[in-house]
Amino acid sequence: MQLGEWTGRLGDEQLRGILVALSDAFAEVARALRQDGSPGDDTVSTSSPTSHNVFGDEQLAVDVLADRLVRDRLLRQPGVSLVTSEEDTAETRSAHGGEYAVAYDPLDGSSVLGCNFAVGSIFGIWRATDTLVGKSGNDMVAAGCAVYGPRTQMVFAVRPEGYKMPEEAVGAVEFIHLPSSAVGTAPGASSTPNTVGNIPWRHLRTFDRNALTASTAKVFAPGNLRMTATLPNYDALVRHWMAARLTLRYTGAMVPDVYQLLVRRGGIFCNPSPAADAKLRLVYEVLPLAFLVESVGGTSSDGHGDAAPLLSRRIADVCERTQVALGSPEEVARFERTLGALD
Ligand code: AHG
Ligand code: MN
Ligand code: MN
Ligand code: MN
Repeated sequence: MQLGEWTGRLGDEQLRGILVALSDAFAEVARALRQDGSPGDDTVSTSSPTSHNVFGDEQLAVDVLADRLVRDRLLRQPGVSLVTSEEDTAETRSAHGGEYAVAYDPLDGSSVLGCNFAVGSIFGIWRATDTLVGKSGNDMVAAGCAVYGPRTQMVFAVRPEGYKMPEEAVGAVEFIHLPSSAVGTAPGASSTPNTVGNIPWRHLRTFDRNALTASTAKVFAPGNLRMTATLPNYDALVRHWMAARLTLRYTGAMVPDVYQLLVRRGGIFCNPSPAADAKLRLVYEVLPLAFLVESVGGTSSDGHGDAAPLLSRRIADVCERTQVALGSPEEVARFERTLGALD
């Protein structure tokens, strides 16, 4: 089944249009990454005077290109109210005045791109017309990511309460992007393309709502490992995971580091840090991937425990950063017990 056909069952034309537009944009990003030389390489952007975004990250040419590819397609969608991204955080209103706000990280892992590691894109869709400030992760209706590795894949969860949903929407659904030459030859490929852009994404698998619930963690992805030097509790936590014989799998790109938890049906990704030093962005990275992980039975935390769940946290500023742990409930609980809030 093609992505356009699958999303057509949602019964919400606005949301469907946004998901198809994102899939088209991600196919374009994948193509840009694979182009010979610039802009798929790691050259620095010349389009902004500083070549840095508001987070202080150096912008590669492909960061800026990916941002434009996603933004242009979203702003043409009738369902979009506003867009905001890691590379351009201003909440930009769409002329259409739709119901949904979209936040995204157009290219996640650009610092490992030069090494040809896997990278990705992240998106979250909120029901919001004016601003994301004051909303929480619980106001999201869909979120997910694209992974650009040896294959290009896209995985997302949709939970618009009250809508008639297809069975497959419970949990998360994954599609694989097929170059046009492969259409019709791939097993199960249908001739029905996406309705917008005509770029084929074929259904690959579905992760059920308990994919991570009962699993035993097999891998751990400990970000910001340098903090073990100053935080004995983080050092102890990492030693616990080593003693428990979990396998270390950390690449430095959040998308593949979190995506593996779904594929392996368990594990943990964390990036502990006091708020003042946190790197990961609440709106563009953390909440969308937390929503995805929780949709398949995992849990997420910023260290504050059950009293203040991450997905209930109100967005105070779209540029907020936070520490995070995502993955198997048992290991996320261990993270909370051992580290908790760091300030
Ligand atoms: P981005 O490339 O979008 O700026 O994000 C990079 C992030 C994230 O992907 C990863 O988990 C984290 O940076 C890694 O940080 P360190 O390089 O400090 O380990
Ligand atoms: Mn960046
Ligand atoms: Mn990122
Ligand atoms: Mn990025």
